[in-house]
Amino acid sequence: MIKKFTYGKPIQTEAVVKELTPESSRLPYFDVRDNAEGEHTCSLVYPMKEEDIVYGLGESVRGINKRGFLYKSKCNDDPVHQESTNSLYGAHNFIIISGSVCFGLFVDFPGEVVWDIGYTSLHELVITPCEPDFDLYLIEGADEKAIAKEFRQLTGRSYIAPKWAFGYAQSRWSYMNAEEVREVVKEHRENGIPLDSVVMDIDYMERYKDFTINEAAFPKFAEFVEEMARQGIHLVPIIDAGVKREEGYDVYEEGLQNHYFCKKEDGSNFVAGVWPGKVCFPDMLNDDARRWFGRKYKLLLDQGIEGFWNDMNEPAIFYSEDHLKEVFEELGKMKDRELDIYEFFHFKDLVLGVANNDQDYASFYHDYKGETIRHDRVHNLYGYYMTRSAAEAFEELVPDKRILLYSRASYIGMHRYGGIWTGDNMSWWSHLLMNIRMMPSLNMCGFLYTGADLGGFGADTTEDLVLRWLAFGIFTPIMRNHSALGTRRQEAYRFESKKIMADIISIRYALLPYLYSEYMKAALEDGMMFRPLAFDYREDTFARRVEDQLLCGDSIMLTPVYEQNAKGRYVYLPEDMKLVRMKSADTYETEVLPKGHHYIDIALDEVVFFIRKNKCLPLAKGAQCIGELDFADLKLLGYVTEKAEYDYYMDDGYSKDYDNPAYRMKFEMERQAVTL
Ligand code: NOJ
Repeated sequence: MIKKFTYGKPIQTEAVVKELTPESSRLPYFDVRDNAEGEHTCSLVYPMKEEDIVYGLGESVRGINKRGFLYKSKCNDDPVHQESTNSLYGAHNFIIISGSVCFGLFVDFPGEVVWDIGYTSLHELVITPCEPDFDLYLIEGADEKAIAKEFRQLTGRSYIAPKWAFGYAQSRWSYMNAEEVREVVKEHRENGIPLDSVVMDIDYMERYKDFTINEAAFPKFAEFVEEMARQGIHLVPIIDAGVKREEGYDVYEEGLQNHYFCKKEDGSNFVAGVWPGKVCFPDMLNDDARRWFGRKYKLLLDQGIEGFWNDMNEPAIFYSEDHLKEVFEELGKMKDRELDIYEFFHFKDLVLGVANNDQDYASFYHDYKGETIRHDRVHNLYGYYMTRSAAEAFEELVPDKRILLYSRASYIGMHRYGGIWTGDNMSWWSHLLMNIRMMPSLNMCGFLYTGADLGGFGADTTEDLVLRWLAFGIFTPIMRNHSALGTRRQEAYRFESKKIMADIISIRYALLPYLYSEYMKAALEDGMMFRPLAFDYREDTFARRVEDQLLCGDSIMLTPVYEQNAKGRYVYLPEDMKLVRMKSADTYETEVLPKGHHYIDIALDEVVFFIRKNKCLPLAKGAQCIGELDFADLKLLGYVTEKAEYDYYMDDGYSKDYDNPAYRMKFEMERQAVTL
């Protein structure tokens, strides 16, 4: 059951798709506390019991259980984020509290929300939106899964990606020209490493201008797209939020003439610095501007492109024209002086504070639903509405076809229009663990088509980290190896163990009938493909404590290795399960293990997962790309003591008649002789 509570006069976000009448009764469970006079905020206070677990917050640092830290919902470009970082690229205000009572809470508010989950006071949860105007949705249900499902019904069906987008993607900032891309594809094919797409970062554009092609580096682009398609490869170009301010550049000129850019208080365009130099930000919140920007994707669709990633859409601001001027003036005053330590710190703060500066976010405006609204008040909607602009245009331009689309910044509601990757991570083991822990909370918030930069984006990776990250990444819907300019090259074929990498990636393809089917069912039934163990084994005390194992779909449990030099790991089995040890798409061993704690060896050249009791999954033969994968030639792999049934979903992967019953099939598996 969902109840809505409205405080003040909230700005509408379009996160939810159902209209509910606000309750007149008091919000249960919480105390609503007015904060100090002058702050104009109120906080929701919940006393947490010892056994309470707080799940959720989508894209955020730390554990599956979010207790013990202070998080801020504020889309934030922080490429070197770490454990102490309060906000990441997405802002996802949904939690489930599970303990003596179990309920969900969605705070629908487009500005910053502070989540103090036992940070100031160990046993107190304090939620503070930065304005007193917001909608709350309180969701009660039988258990965590039921609550998550109700929430998803409230916020609408998740975006569904085309099937080819479940293949392995190779990316790097930057592939500088067509020859480099050809080489990447050739190396994958020659080394037997499956590949479905090459992701194109900013260098395919002419001087980083949206909706242009660098003709010198990528001549005859449409022919190149076709050449790649003949090899089973999709090219996936990036689109940035900022439009280069350049006279004669059509996108800029049109935006200027039609007043589609975000404005400052004096009515002039807000100018910021990003990759192309000075840019203006299209007012994605304005219906006309959004429609205009979305239609621009046509230029690339017309050249055969079928997938995009939207970047820098928090929006990230390297500097603003105005603030940079002020900083230079102040630096000028310091130039010839001997700085004492405090002046030096001030100098450092000034320079480091130029990017993504709060003052800048409070200095431009949107024309949203007929009102002029200062950006910081609706900050978390920008990436959402940019992605929506593309998705709505695709609906008009190519209504019968699924287009791949994922974004960096997001708010709940955007999950209906595209997926998200988790932004810039680092080639750190801790970020592999963070990727593992984030999957269920992202799914809870509706982001099913998601994944992290495998191998790590920033800093030099190591071969073993790539192997372990791939061994986890083969299960995530976005399976993309991506790295930053200047870092060690990390395409699978660059390493001595390229044969092992090829085998691990080919296991993804063998598992794809299962993974795609589970993804589709999660999307169509508002479910979670990735779940904490406790969601399915509620009464099991140990399952409630596990922070590094996940359920993936209905049949399997994942136990990834995320520590360097580990030869294996401890796992907890909440029931008897069958261990599957895969060395390649068609080589595997199995062993049944009893409920309880075990230490399992897991070598660098294998993928280990567990099949739950009386469950099974379909396994394909593997292939070099999705187009060559036979989704009908399957065998069943199961752990059956009585009987197992598998509900197989399979469609053509392009069209949108998702609910066609012809796509559903039941597989059955009979009891096997099993000894423990
Ligand atoms: C930031 C994105 O997060 C990253 O993935 C990309 O490589 C760079 N922008 C350059 O476009």
